[in-house]
Amino acid sequence: MTEIPEHLLKRSRDRKAGGASSEASSAPVPATTEAAAPVARAAAETPAQKPVSKPDAPYVAAAKSRQRIPYWAMATLSLMPIFLFMYVRGLQPQKAEASGPIAIGIEQYGACASCHGADGGGGAGRVLKDGESQKTFPHIEDMLNWVYNGTEAYEAAGVASYGDPNREGGAHYPRSYNGSAMPAQGSMAGGGLTDYEILGLVCHIRYDISGADPAGEWAEEYEKWCSPESAIFMGLEDGSLNFDSPELAGVGTAPRLGTSADQDIAAG
Ligand code: HEC
Repeated sequence: MTEIPEHLLKRSRDRKAGGASSEASSAPVPATTEAAAPVARAAAETPAQKPVSKPDAPYVAAAKSRQRIPYWAMATLSLMPIFLFMYVRGLQPQKAEASGPIAIGIEQYGACASCHGADGGGGAGRVLKDGESQKTFPHIEDMLNWVYNGTEAYEAAGVASYGDPNREGGAHYPRSYNGSAMPAQGSMAGGGLTDYEILGLVCHIRYDISGADPAGEWAEEYEKWCSPESAIFMGLEDGSLNFDSPELAGVGTAPRLGTSADQDIAAG
């Protein structure tokens, strides 16, 4: 509460005293004068008394004096939008991480999009999305071998079909789509991509475009070939491995028959 300056108090007292008397003089009932006089006297006798206002109830006073948001909470609250953003992101199904092989695949996919569509929906080349890639190639090794070589190398080698010979809807064999050829992509087959770029593309197609679940059914394959920590990818990238290395268990650069889901890739 603020101190009221003495001169103001005095003025108020004087006015009260004067007012009371003038009121008394005009008042028809003389009793008022007697009632007003002690009040004026009492005011004069206690000069230091502060004007009394009705005190707040304890709970009102507490509410008034309490700080609305503590300072420490303000710091926390200011981060709320970021928490919210992270929370909402956490709710969305996460795509395979965009680093390692998949990042390379995303970068290179323009080389395939002209025939297979930006979303893998097909066109001059076959449909790659909606699980098609895993249906044709239950083993990633067969897909790598196919993309490396392309149609003509398979024809030249006399290989009857690529991918799963028991594929739903029948095996895919060279020129069985619309009669045109899939160009070779691997360096020794006449294409312009390195082995690690081909792996990156195949990973991007399987996990992003064709929707394989890297945390579910395809987790083992994903960890080995397509995760950012894939030792095979790193080996291909730094040149210590290539598609003919024994560590790549049967990818190979020579066209060969594909394998079905229940077949062991090494025996294929
Ligand atoms: C000039 C057009 C063209 C381009 C460019 C092209 N493809 Fe193809 N692709 C085809 C055709 C045509 C087929 C079917 C081949 C056949 O029937 O012999 C095919 C088939 C495929 C298949 C087999 C799909 C299945 O389920 O049978 C894969 C996988 C594939 N392509 C991946 C790629 C990748 C990866 C790239 C980019 C590096 C690429 N293609 C670039 C035309 C193309």
